[in-house]
Amino acid sequence: MLNIEQLIAAATSEFAGITDAAQLEQAKARYLGKSGSLTELLKGLGKLPADERRTTGASINRAKDQIEATLNSRREAIKRAALETQLDVSALDITLPGRGRGRGGLHPAMRTLERIEQLFRSIGFEVADGPEIEADWYNFTALNTPENHPARSMHDTFYLEKAPGLLLRTHTSPVQIRYMQTHVAQHNHLEQMPEIRIIAPGRVYRVDSDATHSPMFHQIEGLWVGENVSFADLKGVVADFLRRFFESDDLKVRFRPSFFPFTEPSAEIDVAFMSGAMEGRWLEIAGCGMVHPKVLRHGGIDPERYSGFAFGMGLDRLTMLRYGIDDLRLFFENDLRFLSQFC
Ligand code: FA5
Ligand code: MG
Repeated sequence: MLNIEQLIAAATSEFAGITDAAQLEQAKARYLGKSGSLTELLKGLGKLPADERRTTGASINRAKDQIEATLNSRREAIKRAALETQLDVSALDITLPGRGRGRGGLHPAMRTLERIEQLFRSIGFEVADGPEIEADWYNFTALNTPENHPARSMHDTFYLEKAPGLLLRTHTSPVQIRYMQTHVAQHNHLEQMPEIRIIAPGRVYRVDSDATHSPMFHQIEGLWVGENVSFADLKGVVADFLRRFFESDDLKVRFRPSFFPFTEPSAEIDVAFMSGAMEGRWLEIAGCGMVHPKVLRHGGIDPERYSGFAFGMGLDRLTMLRYGIDDLRLFFENDLRFLSQFC
């Protein structure tokens, strides 16, 4: 009997010292396995006399139960300890600073836009807008652009296949007509029409793509209509705007005679790069001119009494010049390494 008691004590103390699940199973085999100590005792039963056999058998079985119980509770303990270590390792350290999600920033073109709006507001311009999906009439016809004008070709303009007469506007100039019409309707009870002084920024679309042309780009239309508005006013407003925008008094600006069906006379405006690889090179930033009498009439305004000037500036081009960037496609490739430099 002493043998059995010793065996239980030995197993209990051995199990207690084990902290590893695999080692515990090996120890179990030493007692309860096929050739384990307890199994050996059981095998020895047959050699005992019949009366001893029963009592010894019973105590061996009790010992087996006891060792199994000890084993099970040790197994549980080891499992719990492992879980606790794992929890410890993966525990959140709530005192660590957060990782943050990376802050967004304004696109450089939108920064430019905000700045332009601010500058024009400061000289009394309001901000207007119009639809990007535009009627052929507003985009071309009302702007004195005849049916056979090259700008109307399928190669230059995105037409809506399922909506004849509609297209993606190719410039912001249709806002001129829309704004004049609304303005006239609102004030036609007055003897004197209040002046129109607006800018109209927005997206425009053309079948274009190279370093200075993108199929989607931004323009800012400007329109000033009143009595005695002259080309000198146009030059003054634009030159003053450009100097303030580029924060430079010796900015190189030139007005080049040009042609637009909706202005007469017409000009294009170039600005020279002040920095970057393109320094000194001219870049066209806008078209402009005195609003054509036919265009005023389409807007409901009497060209005998009122005159006006208009311009259409390329917002992305202005942004290129401001930051010395020589390829405007960079603005639309969504490469964060490029864009984050402006935040
Ligand atoms: C026009 O779009 C006229 N509507 C401008 C105008 C308005 C003239 C009012 C007279 C009165 P133009 O096609 O030149 O003109 O475009 C104007 C400006 O938009 C250009 O000077 C250029 O800065 C910019 N631009 C033109 N095409 C692109 C393009 N594909 N990508 C980026 N910028 C462009
Ligand atoms: Mg042009």
